[in-house]
Amino acid sequence: MAELRFEPALALADLPRGKMRACTIEGRSVLLCHTKDGLHAVDNICTHAWARLDEGWLRGHKLVCPLHGAVFDVRDGKVLKGPATVRLPVHRLRVVEGCLEVALDPAAPPQEIEF
Ligand code: FES
Repeated sequence: MAELRFEPALALADLPRGKMRACTIEGRSVLLCHTKDGLHAVDNICTHAWARLDEGWLRGHKLVCPLHGAVFDVRDGKVLKGPATVRLPVHRLRVVEGCLEVALDPAAPPQEIEF
């Protein structure tokens, strides 16, 4: 198995509990979430149509899409409520000396970026 490549994302101090922040890792838009269950990294683009999830809402571990209201679990990317049917890719996250680092899921499908 290929070794995971962690890239620096942001300072842990910039992501208080209950907040989310988007960042770009190797050209991919990733959403970092700090919940009471810990730190999580998922894709920042909804799997239903095209929407940036950082423009939605984080309620506990539930992430609500701003466009049609799909709800995802940021802990495992699972769809909790449609209309989305495909889970969000989940990426690896670690903290090194106060810095959040992300390793992209090598199995994640290509992401369409429209900025
Ligand atoms: S684009 Fe997210 S629910 Fe439709």
